[in-house]
Amino acid sequence: MIRALWLLAALAPINALTLYTPTSTVTVITITPTQAATGVQPAWTGHAAYDPTVLIPPAPPSPPVTKVDVAIPANPVGAGFRLSIPQQGNFLGFSIELSVATAVMGKNAGKLEPAFLNYMVNLKNRARAGPIIRVGGNTQDSSSMVLQPFADGDAVDKIKQGPKVTSTPIVSYSLDLLYMMANVTSLVGTDWFFGLPFNESTIKTHDAALVAKTAENVLGSKLRALSLGNEPDLYAGHQERNADYNLQAYLGEFSEVRNDVIKAMTRSDLLAGPSVCCSVEGFDIADVLGSGWLTTNAPYLSYVTIQRYPFNNCGVNGKVVDPQVIFSDYLSHTGPMGLTAMYLDASNAAQAVGKPIIMQEMNTASCGDFPGVSDSFGAALWMTDWTLQLAWANFSAALMHVGGQNVYYNPFTPPASAKTGNGWTTGSVYYSALVVAEALGSSNTSQVIDLFGSSNTSSLNPAYIIYEGGVAARAVLFNYVSDPSGASDYTAAINIAGSTADHVNVRYLRSHSIAEHNNITWAGQTLGPDFQGDGRLYGTVDTRTVPCSNGVCNVVVPAPSIALVFLTDTALSDSTPVPEAVATFRTTVVGHGSATVDPQALETSNGSKGGIIGTSGKKHNHSGAQRTPAGPLAALAAAVLLASML
Ligand SMILES: *[C@@H]1O[C@H](CO)[C@@H](O)[C@H](O)[C@H]1NC(C)=O
Ligand SMILES: *[C@@H]1O[C@H](CO)[C@@H](O)[C@H](O)[C@H]1NC(C)=O
Ligand SMILES: *[C@@H]1O[C@H](CO)[C@@H](O)[C@H](O)[C@H]1NC(C)=O
Ligand SMILES: *[C@@H]1O[C@H](CO)[C@@H](O)[C@H](O)[C@H]1NC(C)=O
Ligand SMILES: *[C@@H]1O[C@H](CO)[C@@H](O)[C@H](O)[C@H]1NC(C)=O
Ligand SMILES: *[C@@H]1O[C@H](CO)[C@@H](O)[C@H](O)[C@H]1NC(C)=O
Ligand SMILES: *[C@@H]1O[C@H](CO)[C@@H](O)[C@H](O)[C@H]1NC(C)=O
Ligand SMILES: *[C@@H]1O[C@H](CO)[C@@H](O)[C@H](O)[C@H]1NC(C)=O
Repeated sequence: MIRALWLLAALAPINALTLYTPTSTVTVITITPTQAATGVQPAWTGHAAYDPTVLIPPAPPSPPVTKVDVAIPANPVGAGFRLSIPQQGNFLGFSIELSVATAVMGKNAGKLEPAFLNYMVNLKNRARAGPIIRVGGNTQDSSSMVLQPFADGDAVDKIKQGPKVTSTPIVSYSLDLLYMMANVTSLVGTDWFFGLPFNESTIKTHDAALVAKTAENVLGSKLRALSLGNEPDLYAGHQERNADYNLQAYLGEFSEVRNDVIKAMTRSDLLAGPSVCCSVEGFDIADVLGSGWLTTNAPYLSYVTIQRYPFNNCGVNGKVVDPQVIFSDYLSHTGPMGLTAMYLDASNAAQAVGKPIIMQEMNTASCGDFPGVSDSFGAALWMTDWTLQLAWANFSAALMHVGGQNVYYNPFTPPASAKTGNGWTTGSVYYSALVVAEALGSSNTSQVIDLFGSSNTSSLNPAYIIYEGGVAARAVLFNYVSDPSGASDYTAAINIAGSTADHVNVRYLRSHSIAEHNNITWAGQTLGPDFQGDGRLYGTVDTRTVPCSNGVCNVVVPAPSIALVFLTDTALSDSTPVPEAVATFRTTVVGHGSATVDPQALETSNGSKGGIIGTSGKKHNHSGAQRTPAGPLAALAAAVLLASML
């Protein structure tokens, strides 16, 4: 049972700060799961996050691949594979743009969003470690913390834009944002990365130092790092600094703010950077690491951070990318390999100084992404593939970005407005987090190899093997081909060297089409269609048992799908929620204003600002919500059940 206990007793007094206790009362409005699940689906409101565009899947290869040998070495290093460092099941987490933090997590510390907590608890129950969440993004650099609550009770407020459309918006948040994060941790065990403000004036005002000290006090050991600077390689291009701002200027600025921040903190090794994103000439990760930044700052760092979106939809020079044309770029192993290869040197450099490296912000494309691409089933395969590739490459976490309703790539999006029902919209990439959590499991010893280039893998049917304690525990098999006829399903002949297993167990990530948005199941369960989610998985868990003979297990991998093959019964039980852990949070009626995000925040990489139209500014309209542990799961039986596939 998860208990709502956050002990503020541990909170040390903060000089020059007046602490306040949020006075918000908690309103319990429970509704039955049936109501939550069968809400009337409203017409599409026009926000990107709910865009129903469905693309046409690429034609299946001819002739189809129908048989693949998957040879699993007993000693992968001896067989020439590069074996990753040990990984944890919470590897794939979330990066929440600061400006939408309350729209996603809850209005304030006393009014958390039950659906958000459910999305988190699903992962915690599989990884048996709390999800990793970063709060920050483009809006962090000019953000400011205020000590008193806002009159409307919202922990984040005042998104203002300057006179120019391109002006950096300013987000203010109250201390309550940090308390809210602490409360989320008390319920679902999350660990946090938090973005400090970083600009010329924050050195003079000591704003970053004040935030750092407060975050350290409020979040304690759950604070993994404070990120200093967000995509500094784009500061000049985004007119956030002078046009001549460069790596040298950044190095000086980083040292100055760093010194100011660590003076205020108890721990001096909680910073993270450089969070560069975009391979800007002279300011790439290789340039930063080659400049001495890493060795100089290693004593102050807990993580090295990178951010990356492989494409952008910023409409550079009025050119708009046709999503149908770019779709196939997401439907193979080639993209994830290339995206990861460019960071192998950085990963090795970080490891050499004993610092973990993470992909602090990632998603399918910046500037909101492409309709029909980022919310497709194909994106779920691609996100899983890129994540496992980063795990193989010795990253320690990858965080999917959550923007507002004007982006296509959200793993989850709150309701559009009070008028359009009370349901959340689950993005296809959320399912990737479930697959990764079960693939890496809960042992904390999972080491990853990429079989690509051996066995009969190809860019359309890549495979990873996860070892635990040196023994092959799971195989992750992809089929990127979309072919509802079944002709492109393949049979993986899994051969585990030295194994005498008489069976393996299999769970599938399934949809009938690579282009589908909603009708997606993980192990037979679904989070439901647009506007109908409450963060809970509906349906019966479907785990298939496949017999093996003479050390070979034939597992069918439908087109399209991911098959997660548990090579031992322990590997299966280590990834399966234990019954008493399955507490979820009841959905209550939550009225929402728009959770739009400012244009700047969408341009996370390589933005031409002119290309973004229309955000309506932020409106708040959240009515009370309260998380309470839910009753027996049996009560969910009446919920939406999408037929289990296969
Ligand atoms: C710098 O950040 C502070 C908040 O910490 C903000 O008030 C100020 O406007 C920012 N300045 C610039 C130039 O972005
Ligand atoms: C949330 O945090 C506040 C303190 O900031 C605390 O008083 C309150 O009890 C917490 N609520 C829950 C539900 O944990
Ligand atoms: C990951 O780190 C391990 C341990 O240092 C190393 O053997 C392996 O080659 C690294 N993997 C890659 C892809 O660099
Ligand atoms: C906020 O939502 C409530 C309940 O859905 C509605 O009655 C109220 O009029 C809304 N307020 C504003 C300011 O939109
Ligand atoms: C794995 O690590 C998490 C902390 O990140 C810890 O809570 C958990 O107990 C560890 N699991 C095992 C099996 O050691
Ligand atoms: C498939 O892989 C096996 C080894 O696992 C190898 O013997 C065979 O030649 C491969 N077939 C093709 C077509 O590459
Ligand atoms: C969902 O997918 C299943 C299996 O492919 C199919 O039978 C069912 O008709 C689909 N449902 C919808 C609503 O598309
Ligand atoms: C953004 O992308 C365009 C086209 O891909 C490129 O010409 C430009 O140099 C990039 N700008 C930055 C700042 O990365």
